Amino acid sequence: MLDNLNPTTIESIIRARRTEKVLCDPDAARPVPPDVAERNRNIVLQAIKTAGWAPFHYPRKVDGIAEPWRAHVLWYDAAHKAALHLRDELHVTSKGPRLAAACSALVLVTWLPECTDFQSQTEEKRARDEEHLAAAAAMVQNLLLLLTAHGMGTYWSSGGSFQTPEMYRYLGIPEAERLLAALFIEYPEMRDDSRERKPGSQRDNRCEDWIREVSL
Ligand SMILES: Cc1cc2nc3c(=O)[nH]c(=O)nc-3n(C[C@H](O)[C@H](O)[C@H](O)COP(=O)(O)O)c2cc1C
Repeated sequence: MLDNLNPTTIESIIRARRTEKVLCDPDAARPVPPDVAERNRNIVLQAIKTAGWAPFHYPRKVDGIAEPWRAHVLWYDAAHKAALHLRDELHVTSKGPRLAAACSALVLVTWLPECTDFQSQTEEKRARDEEHLAAAAAMVQNLLLLLTAHGMGTYWSSGGSFQTPEMYRYLGIPEAERLLAALFIEYPEMRDDSRERKPGSQRDNRCEDWIREVSL
């Protein structure tokens, strides 16, 4: 056991993490006050850096960076502008604009496939891509756990309206990156129970029957 580390702490954090989808009309959004924004900015940035200690199997070597993931961070103002852009310019009517409007910050985590063209896909590259994606997912889970430990609400969304070419261009995300998670964050100071709030649809659809102890 690591010094000063109680295993039940991490177990509690893993079990406390839960999806909380928070929605609000972009016109009714509540800006994050500067002192709250500054304090949480440091926490979120540190959490992203620590999340990057996830394992990864192969160096992806894009722009000299080994990690196969990228994190694009939208603080409140940028997330709110993105909400308005989705609603008013791209005429998105799904939940995207209302999720972006309700969050305190939004982290878009992408991963970098080696195969962008199905035709040129080799078995070796496909296997490497699966592992790049698995590594990026480990990074996302790390981040969810760290944010949960800081009392923040989180929601891992596939990204829906954020993964269109128009939104990629608007946000300056290279098209070679594939969106893995739009991670909506709610700072504890910004929690507002009057807002529409939904749990993950699979939250209670859990068992432990997927464990098999192999006897030979
Ligand atoms: C890769 C991934 C993508 C997800 N995308 C969505 C999504 O687009 N919409 C959604 O409602 N939930 C999404 N979720 C969240 C799941 O619905 C949620 O994790 C599940 O219902 C279990 O609830 P819990 O997170 O509270 O345990 C996603 C989760 C993962 C791991």
